[in-house]
Amino acid sequence: MSEHLNIAIDGPSGAGKSTLAKAVAKELNIRYLDTGSMYRAMALYAMRRGVGVTDEAGLKTILDDADITVVYDARGQRVLLCGEDVTDRLRTPELSMGASTVSAHPCVREKLARLQREVGKNYDVVMDGRDITTNVLPETKYKFFVTASPEVRAMRRFNEMHARGDASETYEQVLAALKIRDHNDSTRSYMPLRKAEDAMLIDTSELSIDEALNTLLEAIRQKETEQK
Ligand code: DC
Repeated sequence: MSEHLNIAIDGPSGAGKSTLAKAVAKELNIRYLDTGSMYRAMALYAMRRGVGVTDEAGLKTILDDADITVVYDARGQRVLLCGEDVTDRLRTPELSMGASTVSAHPCVREKLARLQREVGKNYDVVMDGRDITTNVLPETKYKFFVTASPEVRAMRRFNEMHARGDASETYEQVLAALKIRDHNDSTRSYMPLRKAEDAMLIDTSELSIDEALNTLLEAIRQKETEQK
C-alpha cells in the first residue's frame, strides 16, 4: 500500500469528477491525475499509427511504442505522447469515443493502470477515472463514486461545449453519445465501471460544485480522523 495520500474517484462521463478532483487537489495542495486523458492519448496514438481502436492484435503490436507520460507545469497536468505535448488535442468527441473503445482491451488497461499505480506510489494524488477505486488504487480508504443522471451530465457537457464556442453537436447528440459511452464503459468484460462496495456515492445531479466539493472534503477529513 502506498505511503502517500491517494484519493480515488470513479464515475461516468460528465458527472463532475474532474472538476471535483481538481478542486480537491488544489485544496489539499496535491497532484491531480486525469486517467481518462491517458486513454485518450492511447486512442490518438492508435489513430496516428493507422490501427483501429477495436483491433486488439494491432494494438498489441504498437503498445510498447506508445510512450505516454504525464508531467506537470504551471497549467497543471500535461500529457506527452512520444515526447509531444498532446494535452490540448485530447478533448474531442472522436477521441472520447475512441478512448472508450480502446480502453476495453485488457492489454491497454494493464499498461495504463501500471503507470497510474506508479504515480500513486510516488506522490500524494487525487486520481479520477473508471477503475481507480476497483483496480488501480483498491487499497486506499479514500474512495468515491461520483455520478449524476444522464440528462444532467449531457446538459453540462453541452453547456461546456457552447461556452468554448463549439456548436458541433446538439444536446440530443451529446446525450446519445454519452449513453453509448456509459454502456461501453460499464459493460466491457474487463474492469468495467462499477461502484466499489466501500466507495462513498456522491450524486451531483442536484448539487452545486461547492456543495459536492464540501461533501467530498468533509468525508476525506472524517476518514483522516478515523485513521489517527
Ligand atoms: O474520463 P474521460 O471521459 O476523459 O475518459 C475517456 C474514456 O476513457 C472513457 O469513456 C473510458 C476510458 N477510461 C477508462 O476506461 N478508465 C479510466 N480509468 C479512465 C478512462
